[in-house]
Amino acid sequence: MGCSIQTPIVFFLCLAMVTTLALGQGTRVGFYSGSCPRAESIVQSTVNSHFKSDPTVAPGLLRMHFHDCFVQGCDASILIDGPSTEKTAGPNLLLRGYEVIDDAKTQLEAACPGVVSCADILALAARDSVVLTNGINWVVPTGRRDGTVSLASDASNLPSFTDSMDVQKKKFADKGLNTQDLVTLVGGHTIGTTACQFFSYRLYNYNSTGAADPSIDPAFLPQLQALCPQDGDGTKRVGLDNGSANKFDASFFTNLRNGRGILESDQKLWTDASTKPFVQRYVGGLLGSSFNSEFGKAMVKMSNVEVKTGTNGEIRKVCSAIN
Ligand SMILES: *[C@@H]1O[C@H](CO)[C@@H](O)[C@H](O)[C@H]1NC(C)=O
Ligand SMILES: *[C@@H]1O[C@H](CO)[C@@H](O)[C@H](O)[C@H]1NC(C)=O
Repeated sequence: MGCSIQTPIVFFLCLAMVTTLALGQGTRVGFYSGSCPRAESIVQSTVNSHFKSDPTVAPGLLRMHFHDCFVQGCDASILIDGPSTEKTAGPNLLLRGYEVIDDAKTQLEAACPGVVSCADILALAARDSVVLTNGINWVVPTGRRDGTVSLASDASNLPSFTDSMDVQKKKFADKGLNTQDLVTLVGGHTIGTTACQFFSYRLYNYNSTGAADPSIDPAFLPQLQALCPQDGDGTKRVGLDNGSANKFDASFFTNLRNGRGILESDQKLWTDASTKPFVQRYVGGLLGSSFNSEFGKAMVKMSNVEVKTGTNGEIRKVCSAIN
């Protein structure tokens, strides 16, 4: 389907249709341009102001969006409060940034009541977080609606740092995401931290060998052991991208090549033959900038996983509760 230039109006309508069809999921660029023109700028200024006082909200919001999309689709089901909702599931217990979404929602309800979904706020906030950490800016198609189901038991869909590469690939494939998408999206670990409790098993008696995980750079191992002593404080935070944990760049992949991945699942991107070529590609100087542009594309794809649009779902009044 092409767009011949007849009149500018027809051309742009046609272009908008092609864009919608290409995404195929019913989200579209500028969904709120008529109904709430300031929607995106309100989200952006809210994320900016929280980031200024707490830069950890950037990796927090990116991770929250990812965890939302893998469970019931990108429908803000992660935000629901309750005794056995998604946010109470093990992998979600340390998510942060809820206050940023709530703050944006309050302002949006004042500006345009009942119009902007929490699912869109989260998708936009994830993009804004990447921009704030010097990453790429991409256009986020909007028009998601909020889900009405949030169950902790569904969180088993989430990839885990203990999963084998085959299991991880299966979990991504179940969401329509291929191996390149997996490597690219895990590259989101270029910002943020993890805690000793999630990787110290690699440092001392890995797999009952009496030694450390052999994939760790021997020069890096003593640093990790110093930060995470045996029987030390498991909650201590360590940057996932050594030396560049606050900057959204491709150095995360260089660290993997050098045996300086922190999570076992991250380091496996280099040791597994199916994912290594993508890591190599992002490490290569020539394509050094391609990680950021590929990340934007992979995010648009992930942000459209199982979205609810049209008359499905609802527009929540408060992001933490179903209407
Ligand atoms: C861990 O040990 C088991 C059993 O000895 C072995 O099959 C497996 O390959 C080991 N895993 C790693 C990652 O070394
Ligand atoms: C990572 O890099 C920094 C240098 O920025 C260094 O001081 C730190 O100890 C390194 N190691 C770990 C495990 O974070």
